Amino acid sequence: MNVVVFASRKGGSGKSSLAAHLGSYMAENARPTLLIDADPQGSLALWHRIRGSQDLALHMGTKHLTATLAKARRAGAEWVLIDTPPNADAPVAEAIWHADLVVIPMRPGLFDVDAVQATIKVCRELKKPYAVVINAAPAKNGSEDPMVADARGAMRVLDIPTWGGQITHRPELSLSLAHGAGVNESHFGSAGSEEIGSLWRALTKSFDAMKAMSGTQAQSA
Ligand SMILES: Nc1ncnc2c1ncn2[C@@H]1O[C@H](COP(=O)(O)OP(=O)(O)OP(=O)(O)O)[C@@H](O)[C@H]1O
Ligand SMILES: [Mg+2]
Repeated sequence: MNVVVFASRKGGSGKSSLAAHLGSYMAENARPTLLIDADPQGSLALWHRIRGSQDLALHMGTKHLTATLAKARRAGAEWVLIDTPPNADAPVAEAIWHADLVVIPMRPGLFDVDAVQATIKVCRELKKPYAVVINAAPAKNGSEDPMVADARGAMRVLDIPTWGGQITHRPELSLSLAHGAGVNESHFGSAGSEEIGSLWRALTKSFDAMKAMSGTQAQSA
């Protein structure tokens, strides 16, 4: 079971959006998935309610997280996506503690680059793998937009693992959520759907690599 936590102290960076789009991608690919909305704002739960479908399970709140994850494992969940509020307080740290991978969405901008560091500090303290995902970026125009290149450069200097792709700022990404869908469902084959698809492939690859590594460590122990 792969537990992915979406975390960033910065409000509006795209935590709930990425959790919902990836959740819908998983539903479409028939991957048993549990969504956990650990944010009292309840954005992911709202999207799930509008969706009105049973293809994704939902749990709300951070209470009994250990028991909830154990139950999901027993029920055969393959993925657990945990959305968290925009802070680095104890409940977020608790969610991160349960993570196999922390996805930190970041808009390209000075304040955003600065804000992710509080979340990264928690990941580092808890020794959890994490990666920044550049979200709501200006579209590529042949090459990467200077804002994205700048943000990427800052991540490199700070030695922060950053996904090589980007999720561009696209109306269909927010429009689809308003209908309880993911962009892959409402705008299949669109550029936004392709980007979410490559993020999903990158996540899958990271988990495969982590599993291969832990297998090797177990063998050599
Ligand atoms: N790539 C994108 N393209 C277009 N709109 C986006 C994109 N990413 C996020 N948004 C929009 O930006 C707003 C904030 O996104 P979202 O709610 O996912 O962020 P969040 O990190 O969960 O916020 P909070 O910290 O308040 O929980 C939403 O209106 C969402 O639709
Ligand atoms: Mg949110």
